[in-house]
Amino acid sequence: MPDVQYLRLDELSEAELHEAYEPPEEDWLRVNFVSSADGAATLEGLSGPLSGKADKRVFKVLRASCDVLLAGSGTVLAEGYGPLVLDPEREAWRTERGLPRVPVMAVASRSARLDPEAALFTHAPRRPVVVCAADAAVGHMAALREVADVVAVGHGEIDYEAALGVLRERGLRRVLCEGGPRVFGELIAADLVDELCLTVSPLLVGAGPIRVAEGRAAASA
Ligand SMILES: NC(=O)c1ccc[n+]([C@@H]2O[C@H](COP(=O)([O-])OP(=O)(O)OC[C@H]3O[C@@H](n4cnc5c(N)ncnc54)[C@H](OP(=O)(O)O)[C@@H]3O)[C@@H](O)[C@H]2O)c1
Repeated sequence: MPDVQYLRLDELSEAELHEAYEPPEEDWLRVNFVSSADGAATLEGLSGPLSGKADKRVFKVLRASCDVLLAGSGTVLAEGYGPLVLDPEREAWRTERGLPRVPVMAVASRSARLDPEAALFTHAPRRPVVVCAADAAVGHMAALREVADVVAVGHGEIDYEAALGVLRERGLRRVLCEGGPRVFGELIAADLVDELCLTVSPLLVGAGPIRVAEGRAAASA
């Protein structure tokens, strides 16, 4: 059992918060979720109503400190992801450290059935990545190649291990995954997750909504 350190978020400065979330290794896959106290990943179909001030603060720090932000197509569509931009303070934090102004946005879609005219692609400050299965429809992949780099790996399913390998070869080594639950379930099943950042909100949602991990069962805990 590793040593556990408890810190109070409201007692940490921005610099201390960044330091607390400094990935311990160069290659690091971190997943960030918010859930209700009874385990729901959504309220009225979205994560926003589960979130609060503390969660939003951590969310921004995690985004600022990754090389690539990975999100599934279900999340991107449900949550209305636009182009990946940061506020000026976070951009400054990155440029002071010699990092590009913003991370790269990567969208995981098994089928590559994404709209290449979505603002996430057309207004992206850095060329996004689409991660899909290698047998996704050729037409979908071709359309997306106009606006993004397409990483097509795995048959029938996305091979996330191979996808991470490609991202790492491109220097995108600190990966932040913002879900959704199906992508997280796949990452757990493939034993690729280094860290889960989980905010538990003091809310009871009841039965119905999905958990933070869904889909394929993992072989072991
Ligand atoms: N609480 C939180 O922190 C949090 C965080 C993120 C998301 N969410 C919520 O989670 C929901 C979206 O999550 P999601 O799990 O539906 O989608 P997701 O994980 O964001 O993305 C869906 C991905 O799964 C593929 N897919 C479809 N069926 C699949 C299956 N059976 N097994 C494996 N992959 C499959 C999709 O490809 P195609 O493009 O080909 O369909 C796509 O690659 C939204 O309601 C969002 O608000 C909550």
